[in-house]
Amino acid sequence: MRVLVTGGAGYIGSHICVELLQAGVHVVALDNLCNSQEESLRRVGAITGRALGFFEADLRDRETLDEIFSQGRFDAVIHCAGLKAVSESVAHPLEYYDNNVQGTLTLCQAMAAAGVRDLVFSSSATVYGEPATVPIREDFPLGPTHPYGRSKLFIEEILRDLSVSDPRWNIARLRYFNPVGAHESGRIGEDPNGIPNNLMPYIAQVAVGRLQRLRVFGSDYPTPDGTGVYDYIHVVDLARGHLAALHKLQESPGVVTYNLGTGRGYSVLEVIAAFERAIGRPIPYDIVERRPGDIACCYVDPSLARDELGWSAAYDLERMVADTWRWQSQNPDGYGARP
Ligand code: NAD
Ligand code: WQD
Repeated sequence: MRVLVTGGAGYIGSHICVELLQAGVHVVALDNLCNSQEESLRRVGAITGRALGFFEADLRDRETLDEIFSQGRFDAVIHCAGLKAVSESVAHPLEYYDNNVQGTLTLCQAMAAAGVRDLVFSSSATVYGEPATVPIREDFPLGPTHPYGRSKLFIEEILRDLSVSDPRWNIARLRYFNPVGAHESGRIGEDPNGIPNNLMPYIAQVAVGRLQRLRVFGSDYPTPDGTGVYDYIHVVDLARGHLAALHKLQESPGVVTYNLGTGRGYSVLEVIAAFERAIGRPIPYDIVERRPGDIACCYVDPSLARDELGWSAAYDLERMVADTWRWQSQNPDGYGARP
């Protein structure tokens, strides 16, 4: 099998490339490196001992995409490329719609022209907005609350329309919850630009001394310890879910949609405590006001992916934290200063 991974140099994409290569898949990564570095792909090659192709290109560059597809003879595309910062999307909606939606349109046009119609798409739990209840199932109402989440929902709808118009398309829409962790080698991991928005990389940077103290956003939620409960999933589990989705597309046409999570929520204080056990010392933090847009509790019902993909997350919070810490402690500055 020959697979193009868009966003392949990114956090999730690079871990997907590792799993594909180790499964014997021929992999080519496409990335404009706006939020990553080519170093991640060099390390993917080192981890797997296998070569992978790489094109530094923007999804919106149709001419370059046509060239890539004319050379690649791809069987499928795993589409991870996209901008993903919620607050940035509120400030710059047009940038998010152009990059994420227009980028996907151009990708699909190039795929259709090349006769490549198997697509796995990186969607997000943010398409649900604030769920009325938990655990969240795939048939729950959709209601994103910001341009980033809407960009993902718009793309999901576009992909469904595409499949209706041409049944030769086979599409898996994967709604990720909170990917965390890193490959067990400690060689690749999450390397956010600037100050991390997300909990796990922020804690890791406090632990390694890059940041001083963690702010815990609210302790008055209706949860067991008052802090937010979210469904964290190990990025390697997530990557393996993409392999399962690829195989699913080979056996069943049309559009399928799956929540990829563990089905187990962890509170902020539970994540902090797990990190403290992993490093053997306290993580300094302060309880502050809630962060606008956060919700109290969010975790999935993982049964559909289990039953239809034969996939379930294997790693628990201890493993997520241990692998996060190995990556951060071995790479205090991530992949290093951006060129
Ligand atoms: P990331 O920023 O590490 O990876 C995205 C990659 O896409 C980056 O390498 C970036 O350079 C590339 N990219 C962005 N726009 C591009 C374009 N126009 N052309 C070519 N390359 C482009 O982020 P990630 O955490 O690995 O997320 C991967 C995907 O998963 C994204 O689509 C994101 O929306 C989605 N997702 C992420 C999370 C999360 O919490 N990390 C949760 C749910 C969904
Ligand atoms: C988790 C919990 C916070 C930071 C992000 C992306 C979203 C999606 C999933 C792409 C909450 C608390 C956090 C901190 C804290 N990615 N927290 N102090 O909010 O689910 O969203 O990941 O689709 O787009 O924004 O994850 O890690 O930011 O927050 O107390 O410094 O940690 O309040 O309870 P979230 P998160």
